[in-house]
Amino acid sequence: ISKGNGVKGLSEMGLECLPQRFIQPLEERISFSNIMPQESIPIIDMSNWNDPKVAESICDAAETWGFFQIINHGVPIDALENVKDATHLFFGLPAEDKKKFLKENSPSNNVRFGTSFTPQAEKALEWKDYLSLFYVSEDEASALWPPVCKDQVLEYMKSSEVVIKRLLEVLMKGLNVNEIDETKESLLMGSKRINLNYYPICPNPELTVGVGRHSDVSTLTILLQDEIGGLYVRGKNDSWIHVPPISGSLVINVGDALQIMSNGRYKSIEHRVLANGSQNRISVPIFVNPKPCEIIGPFPEVLAGGEKAAYRQVLYSDYVKHFFRKAHDGKNTVEFAK
Ligand code: SIN
Ligand code: FE2
Repeated sequence: ISKGNGVKGLSEMGLECLPQRFIQPLEERISFSNIMPQESIPIIDMSNWNDPKVAESICDAAETWGFFQIINHGVPIDALENVKDATHLFFGLPAEDKKKFLKENSPSNNVRFGTSFTPQAEKALEWKDYLSLFYVSEDEASALWPPVCKDQVLEYMKSSEVVIKRLLEVLMKGLNVNEIDETKESLLMGSKRINLNYYPICPNPELTVGVGRHSDVSTLTILLQDEIGGLYVRGKNDSWIHVPPISGSLVINVGDALQIMSNGRYKSIEHRVLANGSQNRISVPIFVNPKPCEIIGPFPEVLAGGEKAAYRQVLYSDYVKHFFRKAHDGKNTVEFAK
């Protein structure tokens, strides 16, 4: 892979066949035989988020599907469009400019441009480039994030804060946690990471994946996707359900940390992304995470009725380290907390 231009560089060379190192084992490729076209994850209108019926549908979706889409969420459409444009701007930069953010050159571990997920641990690479930004402060972001996209990314992060708080408030009420005090805030949303993902046109999309099977390690993930599609969520009986792009919507999913804190009530569901043979796709997830120094475990409020703890207490930074040591090979990171 040309350093600095990732798989986008390969894609633009006009390769006729997928390079060997991206060929996924048969069982990891997406087979269309188990895709459920008639099923879909819930779509929830957030305009009356405080209405008990809406709250109930949010908690239900988190318990049953682990994934849902929200509309009328209050994040301005301009903020969404601007961050998508900024993503295209970043990946459209010349290789020399992107190279500055590769692991070996980046001014900080909190800013990372790369390809695939954990190339050193993977049997086969994923057909994806990304820019991953761990948010520390506005000052740090202004100083270190790529100038072409930092303002739009910061604006999007800021304008999505309200809906993130609303979702967590509702989900906590569903667990008998009636107030998000400082301690809970640090456990639920003490840190944030945002990724700009770029999935270039792939010469043999059926032989590889954009992202392999995994569940997120976050509390909640807020995903903005463009109009191309390709995200699949694990459904019942080994099926896969497509998450269709809906203009102006956001995809919400429960991550492992919330599954653990809710003692398994809310589900962190396996998902993956197909490679595309004809269009470049982008997506922008915000990972709302516990603060790395927090110890996470099932909330006392959840266990108050005598329920047995299904997970042990773990240091969140250890949990994340464990996730990043392995390739994307399914929903198994949570075993680490058993
Ligand atoms: C991911 O889950 O890693 C990416 C999801 C997407 O690009 O739709
Ligand atoms: Fe994910």
